[in-house]
Amino acid sequence: MVSPATLHAASPDEAQRIWPAVNAAHLFDSYDGFERFRSEAPWRLQVTVRGEAVLLEEWRSHLDVLAMRGLWCSGERVAPLTDQVIAAAAGQGYGRLLSPLVAEELVPVYERAGFSVHGRVIVLRLDRRAWADDETDPSGEVSLRRALADDLPTLVSLDAECFDEFWRYDSGHLERYLAQDRLVVAEGPEGLIGYTLATVVRGSATLGRLAVKPSARGRGTGEALLREAVSYLMRTGADSVTLCTQEENSASRALYSKVGLTELAGRLVFLVRPVASGGRRSRE
Ligand SMILES: CC(C)(COP(=O)(O)OP(=O)(O)OC[C@H]1O[C@@H](n2cnc3c(N)ncnc32)[C@H](O)[C@@H]1OP(=O)(O)O)[C@@H](O)C(=O)NCCC(=O)NCCS
Repeated sequence: MVSPATLHAASPDEAQRIWPAVNAAHLFDSYDGFERFRSEAPWRLQVTVRGEAVLLEEWRSHLDVLAMRGLWCSGERVAPLTDQVIAAAAGQGYGRLLSPLVAEELVPVYERAGFSVHGRVIVLRLDRRAWADDETDPSGEVSLRRALADDLPTLVSLDAECFDEFWRYDSGHLERYLAQDRLVVAEGPEGLIGYTLATVVRGSATLGRLAVKPSARGRGTGEALLREAVSYLMRTGADSVTLCTQEENSASRALYSKVGLTELAGRLVFLVRPVASGGRRSRE
């Protein structure tokens, strides 16, 4: 008999029972989206009969990192449940397990479970009341337009120029965002030089990405892209726009502050735990 403390792939009924918690975490725009995610690869939603759950996803196809998008359990159950996830991750060839983004006060709980801090993220917000809708034009010959499917390969390499291996998107992520969300690119004589990713999930507006090629920075393109994306998100009727950036990213923090975003108190933290016997995956 399966122990009540053992994780197993959730059945459709069990997935339905955990949905209110997943829904509260704003991870999917609808139950259908969540059910599609589960049924495409049922191992990604693991539950215990006690009602604990973990939602898993490969972090990036070029890395050996398995990410926990959510973990629903008490503090003392983080270690035993992540031990089980680690054992399964090793079998699938992953080398590292990534925590969900957690509040600073949960860091000791994860550290006791063998994780160490990978990075800290700041959340910023702009309220509609504080938004002066003065979109700026990009300088010179730069123009902004919606991204097209043909832009995908260039976007993948642009993103890789702007973010390190851990953060950069793989083509699967960007392809999904192109299909589901709003990508706007900045285009100059030399081709694509920047882009934004704007998402609205059940009225919550998020700027998921802002990137300008290193060779094209310092000319106002980042600010123009940011103002255009915020303006769009406000037009959807959102009360506020939220985004995250790394604590050490002083350029983006200066830009966000210039445009009126406020840094919220506290930090969110990613932690990583090695998977002892994991081998490196090379999928690209
Ligand atoms: C952040 C980023 C988008 C800025 O793009 P950019 O085109 O160089 O920015 P702009 O020229 O429009 O700068 C607008 C304002 O941002 C701030 N800023 C931009 N780069 C800065 C830097 N290196 N240091 C300090 N402030 C900076 C300034 O306030 C600037 O206004 P100013 O010119 O009046 O001083 C770009 O550096 C980038 O892509 N970085 C890597 C990816 C990233 O960090 N994305 C954001 C986090 S998700």
